[in-house]
Amino acid sequence: MLRRWTLTMTLDRDGPLPVHLQIVQAVIDGIQGGRLPPGTPLPGSRTLADALGVNRKTVVLAYDELHAQGWVNTQSKRGAFVSAQLPTAADAHRQPADRCPLAEVGLPAPDDGDEVADRLIEFSDGVPDTRLIPFDVLSRAYRHALIATARANRLAYGDPRGCAPLRQEIAAMLRLERGLDCGAEHVCAVRGSQMGIFLAARMLVRPGDHVALETLSYPPARSAFASCGAVLHGVPLDGSGLDTDALEALCRRQPLRAVFVTPHHQFPTTVTMSAERRMRLVELARRFDFAIVEDDYDHEFHFAHRPMLPLASMDHGGRVIHIGSLSKVLAPGLRLGYVAASPDVIRRCAAEITLIDRQGNALTELAVTELMHDGELKRHIRRARRIYQSRLADAAVQVRAALHPHVDFDLPGGGLALWIRLSDSIDIDRLAAAALDEGVRILPGSQFADRPGRVPAFRLGYGSLDGEELSRGLERLRKALRRQTGPL
Ligand SMILES: Cc1ncc(COP(=O)(O)O)c(C=O)c1O
Repeated sequence: MLRRWTLTMTLDRDGPLPVHLQIVQAVIDGIQGGRLPPGTPLPGSRTLADALGVNRKTVVLAYDELHAQGWVNTQSKRGAFVSAQLPTAADAHRQPADRCPLAEVGLPAPDDGDEVADRLIEFSDGVPDTRLIPFDVLSRAYRHALIATARANRLAYGDPRGCAPLRQEIAAMLRLERGLDCGAEHVCAVRGSQMGIFLAARMLVRPGDHVALETLSYPPARSAFASCGAVLHGVPLDGSGLDTDALEALCRRQPLRAVFVTPHHQFPTTVTMSAERRMRLVELARRFDFAIVEDDYDHEFHFAHRPMLPLASMDHGGRVIHIGSLSKVLAPGLRLGYVAASPDVIRRCAAEITLIDRQGNALTELAVTELMHDGELKRHIRRARRIYQSRLADAAVQVRAALHPHVDFDLPGGGLALWIRLSDSIDIDRLAAAALDEGVRILPGSQFADRPGRVPAFRLGYGSLDGEELSRGLERLRKALRRQTGPL
């Protein structure tokens, strides 16, 4: 059996305890502390003796003693293993912790999502179908990146803003496709748009500063601003996006530091902010001197017409921090996003990144650069857009058929989710609970609200499901709805 790691221990050669008993004690301490869980292979006697600089017979003596005491099983040819029948360290850790600083920083354990994930159909908040990513091309690009950087001895610390070729590619895309006045110096690579939002909050907010978000918004963004000490305000929204009259009234009462928006496909309602509201928002930012944090998390998947240009394309005073991501385009697990802003802001992003994780993953950055440079990313986007557009059309028809007449929705111009309004007679919380019972998860609107209360709607992410999964999920949802309505 291949032992993967060496076992380190400190011996006191001048101490009163014989060395072989010190080894015995170190192994018992390791077992009791959880460092050596049941079944762990121990190093061969020769290897451990070499590592410790002792005679091999000393180690053999120690292993015999551990075997005699029942801590270790020795099997001829295979070596020594920690006994499988011992109480584990987890048992010891189950005791209530003494008061200590770490006892105060924990959070309760979340539900173990993985346990139920297999049988559940998830109508997520709008995640992509990662089965669609061009994994052949991507793995080839990773291979190229690894070979090129390793050979050139360049797989080392680099620019915290991300590698220059990637920033150049992103800047070119933002210039050509989104109308931003942008070069590589305006771009910082981050580990997903959530990190971009957090960095924006860190840069902008001092404790007590006021920040506005829509009353229905992306909860992790709310949490990011709150974690920096922001006082949060909710601004209503309607079918044209953020209510800019209400925002103006708020600004008159209370100077704001920043406004967070998702204008392309408002999260969670999917509404695309109208051109008039966009102009008004940028004008208000100028007049009342606040920054706009624009989260353009799924820009690429817009079907209705040419995507509207981001707020950042209308910003000539450096007030907008534009945040984008490859999580929807490729996969959330790649952790690659970007912040586009003035070079000063980007330098400050770099300083913050140096504190958090020093820099991104050079291989992912270079592999994605290759995909962008060769046009493979664009090709994938075109293909994925066609698939999602057809899934959206399919979802719209099937949702109406399965849940009529108790639901209503506007067909979104893009994005990977529907925002489904329920008729007054339906209790959304009961529906979500019954749905879970039937093996399908929906996300009730109240999860996205800035205050407790009923929101008679839910977000139904369709993008990650193929036709068969969608039908199965909707059938289960229909059964859950029937528990409240009787036969549909
Ligand atoms: C509105 C919105 N913003 C940001 C994110 C974060 O995405 P990521 O950090 O994976 O880029 C998501 C993820 O679903 C989202 O829906």
